[in-house]
Amino acid sequence: MNHPITRSTAVLFLLLFALNACKQADNKSQNQKNTSAADQNWWKEAVVYQIYPRSFKDSNGDGVGDLNGITSKLDYIKSLGINTVWLNPVYSSPNTDNGYDVSDYRNIMKEFGTMGDFDKMLKGMHERGIKLVMDLVVNHSSNQHEWFKQSRSSRSNPYRNYYHWWNAERGKPPYRYSLFDVNHDAWKYDSLTNAYYLHYFSVQQPDLNWENPKVRQEVYSIMKFWADKGIDGFRMDAYQFAAKDTTFPKIPVNGQNFMKYYAIGPHLHDYLKEMNREIYSKYNLMSVAEGAGNSLQDAHDMVDADRHELNMAYAFDGVSVAKANGYSLLELKNVFSRWDSAFAKKGWLSIFLANHDQARLVSRFGNDSPEFREVSSKMLNTFLLTMRGTPYVYNGDELGMTNAGFTKIEDYNDIALRNEYQHMENTGGDLKQFLQLAGKENRDNSRTPFPWNGSANAGFTTGTPWLKINPNYKTINASAEDKDPNSCLNYFRKVVKLRKDNPVLVYGKYTLLDKSNPNVYAYTREYNGKKLLVLLNFKNKAAVVNTGIDLAKAKVLLGNYAEPAQDAKLRPYEAVVYQL
Ligand code: NOJ
Repeated sequence: MNHPITRSTAVLFLLLFALNACKQADNKSQNQKNTSAADQNWWKEAVVYQIYPRSFKDSNGDGVGDLNGITSKLDYIKSLGINTVWLNPVYSSPNTDNGYDVSDYRNIMKEFGTMGDFDKMLKGMHERGIKLVMDLVVNHSSNQHEWFKQSRSSRSNPYRNYYHWWNAERGKPPYRYSLFDVNHDAWKYDSLTNAYYLHYFSVQQPDLNWENPKVRQEVYSIMKFWADKGIDGFRMDAYQFAAKDTTFPKIPVNGQNFMKYYAIGPHLHDYLKEMNREIYSKYNLMSVAEGAGNSLQDAHDMVDADRHELNMAYAFDGVSVAKANGYSLLELKNVFSRWDSAFAKKGWLSIFLANHDQARLVSRFGNDSPEFREVSSKMLNTFLLTMRGTPYVYNGDELGMTNAGFTKIEDYNDIALRNEYQHMENTGGDLKQFLQLAGKENRDNSRTPFPWNGSANAGFTTGTPWLKINPNYKTINASAEDKDPNSCLNYFRKVVKLRKDNPVLVYGKYTLLDKSNPNVYAYTREYNGKKLLVLLNFKNKAAVVNTGIDLAKAKVLLGNYAEPAQDAKLRPYEAVVYQL
């Protein structure tokens, strides 16, 4: 394909925004007035637990997780100590991308239950002091949404401008890359009106036209509908793509900064400000965007409280440090430290290393061998919960769940993977290598049903699960771990409590120590006269750390070994939190 986005770079499409922003972010915050990262807010103190509803708990035996399933597990969720849930989309959807293709934003997907079930779940969460953040998927809708059905029906339909159309008499539209398309082509020809429509994701996910004020009003009205129900926030899916260059110029081959054609257009901040005026300023909602901008200006501007846009965004450059063959701890430290310093005075960060779009936390960033799985999973959760910024933990990572072990294309459900496989087949790519890589990196690794116990189908369903259960469910499951005081699950509960009991872990200044140590991540957190030290050995062998701090008088608050280290030598994957 004669285009600046090659296939190998394309998978990093979303991640590039964050990288750009991060590179420039260092200089920025220094000169800004302080609206203070230390200003207290509930969403800064939140520990967000992400639930992938399709895989959490099936209540009716159809093999698919549902809302009543979640409601039946609210006591478990509460027992984690978390106070906020982010729920992946549950709206009506033909489910080509597991709910990220919404056909009715005011209804619940049939497989997941009814609006009554939703209300019950929300009430149950609120009764337990848990807030609910919904996924707002409005860069695109499903092609089964009534808006799109109308829009494609004729060129003069009032909904025509809800989407991006290119009439075929103008010739083929300039190439745009599609993330999920079999041909990587974001323009789909529709003979009904002899025109092409734009879809950055799959053909079933046409992009909405945010330049049309009616579209924006529709979205605000949807947001209002859910806010009036009492939900507590929105995670805005792929939102930066909403503001794009709609003149669709030809992108110069080998051109620089091609991303400006795709996203973060000049109107992005206008839209966010308008959304804030219409919705966020009127409700006590948390707002977080997927992606943190394409430039220094974007990253800060999106979350600068004075600008009245969003509370938080999340950048991808932390999560993308891990590659199929490993990663460099120095790079990881560098990324997280850079982001922290960029937002030290103003704005707020999100902290995450895994979600439903990534392979499993312990398999990517830790060590999923029987010897080190538990200890490395505990170490990683210690990291996530002792950094500054709101931590996001993906369901199952509290148990130390591992990658799924899929080897065949039939094992996978992911539309992105299946379409890419077909693309490879069509173009003679190396399918064996492709599947090997998928086994390590594909997002279905983290979408396997939640293992509740060691019984059939891991107690997830009485039917046939929609995606294979991880074969290690007999040992890695919530019930077994609940009973074991040394399990990943019980450690997770302790580290969440530690964060809750110590505001220093939320608001405290972060200082990186022993920066060039390739094995150990060491930092302090300081706030209101309290100082904590966190030592994390990211390697499978003992490692020495040089912080210059005498640990003799330090008090151990938490460690992932029975007897935490009292000197500067850490055992494999050892994590210790000290009070100094
Ligand atoms: C990002 C979501 O996290 C991902 O799961 C989805 O496939 C795309 N956006 C498209 O909505």
